[in-house]
Amino acid sequence: MNTDYRYLLASQVTPKSQSFFIRTYGCQMNERDSEKMAGLLTQIGFSNAMSQDDADIIIYNTCCVRESAEDKIFGHLSYLKHLKTEKNFILAVGGCMTQQKNIAELLEDKHKYVDIIFGTANRHRLPEFIWRAMNSERVTDISEDETIFPEITDIPVTTRVFSHKAGVNIMYGCDNFCSYCIVPYVRGREKSRPVSDITEEIGALAADGVKEIMLLGQNVNSYAGDATFPKLLQFVNEIPGIERIRFMTSHPKDFSDDLIAAMRDLPKICKHVHLPLQSGSSRVLEDMNRHYTKEDYISLALHLQEAVPEIAITTDIIVGYPGETEEDFQDTLDVVRRVQFSSAFTFIYSKRSGTPAAERTDLIPRKTANERFDRLTAELYPIMTKKNEAKLGRIFDVMVEEVTDAHKYKGRTNDHTLVHFTAEKEFSSGEIASVRIDTAKTFYVSGTVL
Ligand code: SAH
Ligand code: SF4
Ligand code: F3S
Repeated sequence: MNTDYRYLLASQVTPKSQSFFIRTYGCQMNERDSEKMAGLLTQIGFSNAMSQDDADIIIYNTCCVRESAEDKIFGHLSYLKHLKTEKNFILAVGGCMTQQKNIAELLEDKHKYVDIIFGTANRHRLPEFIWRAMNSERVTDISEDETIFPEITDIPVTTRVFSHKAGVNIMYGCDNFCSYCIVPYVRGREKSRPVSDITEEIGALAADGVKEIMLLGQNVNSYAGDATFPKLLQFVNEIPGIERIRFMTSHPKDFSDDLIAAMRDLPKICKHVHLPLQSGSSRVLEDMNRHYTKEDYISLALHLQEAVPEIAITTDIIVGYPGETEEDFQDTLDVVRRVQFSSAFTFIYSKRSGTPAAERTDLIPRKTANERFDRLTAELYPIMTKKNEAKLGRIFDVMVEEVTDAHKYKGRTNDHTLVHFTAEKEFSSGEIASVRIDTAKTFYVSGTVL
C-alpha cells in the first residue's frame, strides 16, 4: 500500500519542484523519526528546503512531555496560519502531541489550516497522507496498529542531521506508566525490534560513514527482543566501522549486573550512562511508580562508578511533584551530592491530563517549585564544574562534531563531555582529535589539539 503511494507521489514530483521542511520538537526519538521521514520524502524525489518559508510541505513533528512544549508548538502554528494567507503549502502536524485524541480533535475543529494530522505510529504512511492532501483531502489519522513497527526500513541511507552519528531505535513505546508521564499514552506499549533488524540498520549506517551509534528507547534496558540488552550490546560492539556506542534512556529498576559488566568489558561502549533519578525521596518515587528507592539508586550509581572507573552519570530530575515536601526535596539534594552527577536535565513538574498525577490536588505552589528548581541547579552546577575541572591538563580523544569557526571545533569525549578546541590541522566530523584540556566551565571544557 505504501509503496503504491510512494510511486504515485514520485510520479508527480520532479526534484526541486517540491520541497519539504521538517521541524522537530522533543527527544532523540522524534529526531530520528524526522530523519526517517526526511529519508522517505527524499527517496520519492522531494528536496529538503532550507527554511519553512521556502517549503511546499511543512511537517511539524511534535512533543507533549510538558505543557511548555505544547504551548511553544501552538505559538509556531499561529505563524504558519498567517503564512498560509500569503502562500500555498501543505501543513502536516504529527508526533506525540497529535497522538492525544483531544489535541487531534482540537486541531481538526479549530485549526482548519492544518492539512494533515497524523500520529507516532503511522509516520511511515506520510506519502499516502501527502498524496491525499495534494488531492484536496483533509487528513486526520492517528490510528495505532500495535502489531507493526512504524519503521521505515527500506531506505538504505536516510537523510541525517549528522554525518558521523545516528540514533537507532531498538524499541518503541513504554510500559512503565510513571505517574506524571504522558509518553506511554502517546507512544503505545513496549515493542522491541529483532536483533537482526537493528544490526542490519547499524551496518548500513556504518557503511555510510557513521562512527557513533545511539541506541534509542524510552527504557532501553528492558529491551526484550531475541536477546537481552547486554547481549545486544555485544552484537553491536562487533559491527565494523562503529567506534562508539551510546544508549538512552536507562531505567534504574532494570539496570542489571550483566549490563554493568557489558559497560565495563565492551570496548566500544561509551563510559556514560543517562540514569534518570526523577526524585531522591523514596516516598515520592513510590508515588511516581518508579519501582526503586533512594538507597537503590545510590547503590546502583556507586556500583557503576566502582565497576567502570571514570564513568559519567547524567540524570533527569523533576521538582515540585504533587505533595513534595521540603524533606523530600532535601533527599533529592542529598542524592545529587552523593552521586556527583556530570550533568542533569532539571524540570518543574508539569501536569499532563490523562496521567494519574493529574488527579492530584496537593499541588506545589509555583513559587515554591521555582525556588526548589533554583536551589537544585545551585547544588548541581558547582559539581558539574568540579567534574570538568578534574579534566584540566589531561588529554582526551575527542570525536569531532562540527566546525564552529575557522580552526575552531566542537566535539565530545567518550564520556560525552562537550569540548571546544582549536587546531591548525583540518578535521572533519567523526574524526578523533587528541585534545589537551586547558579551561573548564560548567557545561563544557576547552582545549588545544596536540
Ligand atoms: N523514558 C525516559 C525519558 C522520558 S521523558 C525516562 O524514563 O527517563 C524525559 C524526562 O522528562 C523524564 O525523565 C522526566 O524527568 C521528564 N518529564 C516527563 N514527564 C514530565 C512531567 N509531566 N513534568 C515534568 N517533567 C517530566
Ligand atoms: Fe515516561 Fe517513565 Fe516511560 Fe520514561 S519510563 S517514558 S518517564 S513512563
Ligand atoms: Fe516528547 Fe514524545 Fe519524546 S512526548 S520527549 S517527543 S517521546
